[in-house]
Amino acid sequence: LSRFFSQLPSRSDRPSFGIAFDIDGVILRGESPIGGSPQALRRLYNRSGALEIPFVFLTNGGGFPESRRASELSKLLGLNISPLQVVQGHTPFKQLAHRFENDLVVAVGKGEPAAVLSEYGFKNVLSMDDYASCFDGIDPLVQYKMWTTATKKSCTEDMPSKHAIYRQKVKAAFIVSDSVDWSRDIQVLFDILRTGGLPGREIGHQPHLYFANDDLAYQATFPSERLGMGAFRIALESIFNSIHPNALQYTSFGKPNPFVFKNAEAVLQQLVSAHCGTQLLQDSNLIDHHFGTVYMVGDNPSVDIRGARQAGDPWFSILTRTGVFKGTENDTNFPADLVVNTVEEAVDYILKREC
Ligand code: G3P
Ligand code: MG
Repeated sequence: LSRFFSQLPSRSDRPSFGIAFDIDGVILRGESPIGGSPQALRRLYNRSGALEIPFVFLTNGGGFPESRRASELSKLLGLNISPLQVVQGHTPFKQLAHRFENDLVVAVGKGEPAAVLSEYGFKNVLSMDDYASCFDGIDPLVQYKMWTTATKKSCTEDMPSKHAIYRQKVKAAFIVSDSVDWSRDIQVLFDILRTGGLPGREIGHQPHLYFANDDLAYQATFPSERLGMGAFRIALESIFNSIHPNALQYTSFGKPNPFVFKNAEAVLQQLVSAHCGTQLLQDSNLIDHHFGTVYMVGDNPSVDIRGARQAGDPWFSILTRTGVFKGTENDTNFPADLVVNTVEEAVDYILKREC
């Protein structure tokens, strides 16, 4: 980690604040930086490019391991970003790896959802693409999906045989990132969930179901918000509950859950410890480093601002106008401590207030 952080500042110079930045609608829209994000973030590094002010990206998005996301963000923003600074919606799934040991789990979503879970320590993971490809006819619309016929998957040699997959119960489904093919994913998840993990068989006990976030909408490149994982959850749940006698059981992670904000605070503390390098061992106060203020800079009132407000002290919420929120004043349901136009204005305010 040393290449990411500068030398230990004296005790009084240690930052008593940290910052959590939302990504979609604050730092990026699609793949493009917005709101002056590269120059705003650059102010948090010293002249030699080492991190000076502890900050993390606290996004509900995902689909790739944190290490890959960190190098992509580094390229897009022209900065040196450590994987430790990337907290995604699915990051807490890491804590569940031991629960499933060698059980078969299915990973759903854009990007490389199975690689994400494998990196977290899950030993028997299949992506929904691979899993569905082993069941002939499971998606009755597949031949009409031009994008899948071009890259159509089939049960390949590096996967367990078709018969082995038919016999293995799926113990859990993880919605790692936004579903690319709602019709196939809802159909196959419905099969997995109603049969106890054995599509095509009798009704069985519902396997576990985890969502990386519950965002109804988020800001991408299109001018108005796009439907997010929360919308996908509602679709799956209402279909399941209309057909199945028992209501769908599931757990959603991501902002605005208070534990996400607690965890972000802990990561920011780790960054300060890493920042302070070898002196950590001689300075027990560092282990208990507490921030006077932790700023959440977000674009979504019901997710970012609501979460920071619920988390309470030491969180301070800043709402930008570059994403989901497009109002002139403050949000009425979840008012932020401060409303600004862009992330650049947010960083400017923070540095003036703190330094
Ligand atoms: O799919 C991403 C979206 O749900 C939210 O991302 O960075 O705004 O938390 P973010
Ligand atoms: Mg956002």
